[in-house]
Amino acid sequence: MSETSETHIYALIPAAGVGRRMGADRPKQYMTVAGEPMLAQTVRALERVSRIERIFVVVSAADAWIDEVAKTFSPRVKVLRAGGAERADSVLGGLTAAQLPGDAWVLVHDAARPCVRPSEVNHLIDEVLGDAHGDLAGGILAVPMADTVKRADPQRMILETVPRADLWRAATPQLFRVGTLLRALTAGLAGVTDEASAVERLGLPVKVVSCRSANLKVTEPGDEKLAELILGEKNMQAPQIPQIRVGQGYDSHRLVEGRRLILGGVEIPFEKGLDGHSDADVLLHALTDAVLGAAALGDIGQHFPPSDPQWKGADSRKLLRAVVELARRAGWTIVNVDATLVAERPKIGPHMKAIRESVAQTLGVAVEQVSVKAKTNERMDAVGHEEGMMAQAVALLVRTPEASRG
Ligand code: CTP
Ligand code: MG
Repeated sequence: MSETSETHIYALIPAAGVGRRMGADRPKQYMTVAGEPMLAQTVRALERVSRIERIFVVVSAADAWIDEVAKTFSPRVKVLRAGGAERADSVLGGLTAAQLPGDAWVLVHDAARPCVRPSEVNHLIDEVLGDAHGDLAGGILAVPMADTVKRADPQRMILETVPRADLWRAATPQLFRVGTLLRALTAGLAGVTDEASAVERLGLPVKVVSCRSANLKVTEPGDEKLAELILGEKNMQAPQIPQIRVGQGYDSHRLVEGRRLILGGVEIPFEKGLDGHSDADVLLHALTDAVLGAAALGDIGQHFPPSDPQWKGADSRKLLRAVVELARRAGWTIVNVDATLVAERPKIGPHMKAIRESVAQTLGVAVEQVSVKAKTNERMDAVGHEEGMMAQAVALLVRTPEASRG
């Protein structure tokens, strides 16, 4: 069940509670914590997890505060006025309104947990989606029990000391497939205090993934001060140093009669074309391997095996786009690419502008970030004798540690 470009991960934040125990002048998710409404802090923590495609915030129909806070959200965040009487009603209402595909994954996270770290969320995703056997129904962040635990009778007399080694305090996010969670919640909400308890009832395997006790749920007066301290500490961390990675790619294809010549996604008029399983776009294949190389995500053959009929005659722009998306989900942004095409004939110069524009469009970057050069092989060797063409490429990628998966 490893993550591929087909894996979709969404987040859902139930934020429709009234905060009775907090007893503030407004629902606690709108209290100011470390200079901002708590909900804005919580949403931002999840926005920093680049693998999450969309974030749904579930509020009550009568919510009077959300419009102001929603101004701070990125376009990835959508507000749903689908909250219900209990937390589980809000989750079910939100999931139903969001209309997500059943096989997508959804991270349900309390609005009242603004201190969660993006690295903890990424850890949960890695543990659940990286499950070797693929039989996990999901996983939750949880805090290992630190205190000695007692069971007492109604008169508060201790009955026993409960061994704490196997005990965890459930936190959020909790990650499940949308279909599984819908099935679990529609089976009845009585006694359901978190998503896992509903899924457990179906007898499905759910994993606990350890997180800091600092991922606390702001519940009672004073908790907001604790959250402020924790968030303050995070804000005081050293500035994030971006990670920068270079990748290299190489490819070659034979020239044959009766094939179209496609270079950089552009058809070039010529009496021959490159031979291969896909459209044999030697330039895009070198670039694809360069992007994969920089992100250390394997190589083109691994992602698009020539033995797989679905890639027969494939438009190589589609392959490159899928690889850029894979890198993006791991937090990477393309800084620039540079490629060299070696071809004895035809002259590439007249097509260079179109090739650069096509490559830039496929990568989703500006033309200025794309360099393509062409040379002949001075009539030497196979390429010089027009038996084929070859290409080399480098790609530079960048990400902030917060956006990374670890
Ligand atoms: N929640 C919700 N819908 C509800 C109740 C709770 O979306 N009907 C949300 C809360 O907004 C919160 C999370 O679920 O983000 C966890 O719930 P809890 O901490 O219990 O918040 P409240 O219900 O608001 O607080 P209280 O129980 O003290 O009233
Ligand atoms: Mg509650």
